[in-house]
Amino acid sequence: GNGLEAILERIRELKEKRRAVILAHNYQLPEIQDIADFVGDSLELARKAMEVDADVIVMAAVNFMAEVAAILNPDKIVLHPDPRATCPLANHARLELLRRYREKYPGAPLVIYINSYAVAKAYADYIVTSASAVKLVGKLGEDTILFAPDRNLADHVAMATGKNVVAVPAGGICPVHEFLLDEYYVRKVREQYPRGYLMVHPETPRPVRLMADYVGSTSQMLRRIGEVEAEVYIIGTEEGLVHRARRLYPDKKIVPANPRAVCINMKKITPLKILYSLETLKPRVVVPEPIARRVREILERSLEMVR
Ligand code: 13P
Ligand code: SF4
Repeated sequence: GNGLEAILERIRELKEKRRAVILAHNYQLPEIQDIADFVGDSLELARKAMEVDADVIVMAAVNFMAEVAAILNPDKIVLHPDPRATCPLANHARLELLRRYREKYPGAPLVIYINSYAVAKAYADYIVTSASAVKLVGKLGEDTILFAPDRNLADHVAMATGKNVVAVPAGGICPVHEFLLDEYYVRKVREQYPRGYLMVHPETPRPVRLMADYVGSTSQMLRRIGEVEAEVYIIGTEEGLVHRARRLYPDKKIVPANPRAVCINMKKITPLKILYSLETLKPRVVVPEPIARRVREILERSLEMVR
């Protein structure tokens, strides 16, 4: 049959046959989170991709995350079930633009967010995720730092480290966090739950971050729920994280800051497309080795710094 249960059963069979693992981001559909071998934020997914014991990795995530998995696993088959699942934020980090900023700020290290593509990463000095950005930038000797491509995360890092963090470009944003988790929506949910513990992603605009009780990556928010007592926890990021949070803490009351904050790209990955991928071993992600090698070096060095 073609019902969801039949699809999930076929996925389980093919996973064994192909010696495949499914790695899923925290924003994936509930049914994908539930069938995945591992679910996490982008830092955890990168770390997991380094140690996976399998022949095939299916990345249930957006394309730059599949690209990172391929870079870390040149000898494995890395599948991305729908290459149209892109990240509009990653498009802001264009090589030409990075070059211009480097010329304008000689001597300033270029820190690039993992939400970017391999050619841009290969040109950077450090690679960070939302979970590691503050820690890594805090360790750098320089006071002026170029940070691409999310201006809100750049601002969060500047406020947390006191450094002169230059956003590259000035207007790089994630549409989900910039527009669907903006001040208006978050104020509204704050008023609805005045005693709620508000957690937001650093990709949200400054007024939202200033309203929040905690700013962190998706998995950092999950850990925080276990550390803090509250009547209700408000999750200020893409709504997919709410499923994961409720699974981990079935006895706590957890609500999304905006149930309409959906990353359409994350949701382009469906169980049916995962099944097709496992059947055909396509679409495969391949990164040219000279670029992959360079990114691997930068990424491994950067991850070591935040261990
Ligand atoms: P995390 O690394 O916090 O999971 O963030 C990834 C992302 O795409 C945020 O929108
Ligand atoms: Fe990219 Fe935003 Fe979607 Fe995250 S939520 S994958 S930053 S578009």
